[in-house]
Amino acid sequence: MRDVGMKIYIETYGCQMNEYDSRLIASILASDGHGMTRDLGAADVVIVNTCTVRERAEIRVLGRLTHLRGLMRKDAVLGIAGCVAQRMGDRLLRKIPGLSFVVGTEQYWKLPDMIESARIGRAVVAVGTGSGESYDRRPAPDEASLCEFVSVMRGCNNYCSYCIVPYVRGRERSRATSGIVDEVTQLVALGAREVTLIGQNVNSFRDEGRGFAGLLSAVAKVEGLQRIRFATSHPKDLSDELIEVIGSVAKVCEHVHLPVQSGSTEVLAAMNRSYTREQYVALAGRIREGIPGVALTTDIIVGFPGETDEQFRETVSLMNEIRFDSAFMFHYSVREGTRAAEFGDDVPKEVKIARLETIIDLQKRVTSEVNAALIGSNAEVLVEGPSHRNEDLLFGRSRTGKAVVFPGDAGLTGRVVNVEIRSTSAWTLHGGNPLLS
Ligand code: SAH
Ligand code: SF4
Ligand code: F3S
Repeated sequence: MRDVGMKIYIETYGCQMNEYDSRLIASILASDGHGMTRDLGAADVVIVNTCTVRERAEIRVLGRLTHLRGLMRKDAVLGIAGCVAQRMGDRLLRKIPGLSFVVGTEQYWKLPDMIESARIGRAVVAVGTGSGESYDRRPAPDEASLCEFVSVMRGCNNYCSYCIVPYVRGRERSRATSGIVDEVTQLVALGAREVTLIGQNVNSFRDEGRGFAGLLSAVAKVEGLQRIRFATSHPKDLSDELIEVIGSVAKVCEHVHLPVQSGSTEVLAAMNRSYTREQYVALAGRIREGIPGVALTTDIIVGFPGETDEQFRETVSLMNEIRFDSAFMFHYSVREGTRAAEFGDDVPKEVKIARLETIIDLQKRVTSEVNAALIGSNAEVLVEGPSHRNEDLLFGRSRTGKAVVFPGDAGLTGRVVNVEIRSTSAWTLHGGNPLLS
């Protein structure tokens, strides 16, 4: 007889894709009769959804699995999902004592059967790829938060030379527009007001001749939805049509996350990013011209193989030239099997760390200045609820994605309000009393 009503505990690491996939796993298991729990001690099944984008992320998560095995009930089963599972497959069973199943990024439909086997003591591994799985048939969600993510495409074909993602997420494939619109409609019916459309490279979304700009327009028609965000945009294919849609469709928020990775054209070529510094700067200019008030954010890697002081200074000068609203910054981490792994990791660790500190300090200063310039202006904010730091204040995000805190009644949660920005700190805008918009 099949077990039903098991309690599943899921812990998630990595990017928004993994956050989305953990919800997907929950909905697949819910449709098999199981429920979620946040209480590790009560769990029958523990799943860790993992990230392998940098070596440190992977080491940390492997340590966490061993630690969880010690904390969970002895009769519960432990499994690993996501990108580390995909990369390492059955090697993980030997590496982590007490691990019962390993499920790769295209195999989540198999989870009910895999858990069944694991419960009777048979360890199982499913990490096949190439199925083109896009999870378009995902079971309908049964709850939603105010701000939700919806995956619109999976995988990546870009093969940036440093990046493991194409190897663990497979070839790029888009979902059907109708499935995406249905999912957004269901989420809005359950209370969502904002959706972020996610994919490794949303600009190459394709569905029967419809590109990402067309998808944004289709999703914007969902009644009751107030805001649309999206990530991530690869600079090589962010079209003028898309800039026009972001600038003109009211629900689409004025924020573009446009990873530059480096300010040196030579390093960009070695990274296989297929644009030059000049092309990136020109694109940033077109975005700012076409979308007034837009926030531009980015990702940057320092210490890529062969990166000279001079090339690093080009990254610094690009950051000074563009003045990003904010940035995620990393030092290069070798990923086995990628092209860059063959280049040799020749920038010394201390140099990588010093370069990273330099750009973090620079970005912190720029972000403070960019935010300070907003004092006196009005921000449209979707109220997400009381601030975690101070229960007397409300928290929400501006259309540009910035955190805003301001006084107000928790009853405004879920409403869109206008807030005058009175002061700013490094990462947060502080507003006055809200006005309903
Ligand atoms: N598809 C997205 C996100 C990829 S992972 C994109 O193209 O932007 C998020 C970020 O991690 C990347 O933008 C990159 O800056 C960083 N990253 C990826 N591989 C890395 C590596 N091997 N070492 C250091 N940072 C890396
Ligand atoms: Fe990785 Fe590049 Fe694909 Fe982003 S676009 S996921 S950095 S290969
Ligand atoms: Fe990490 Fe996988 Fe996302 S490697 S960044 S969780 S796609």
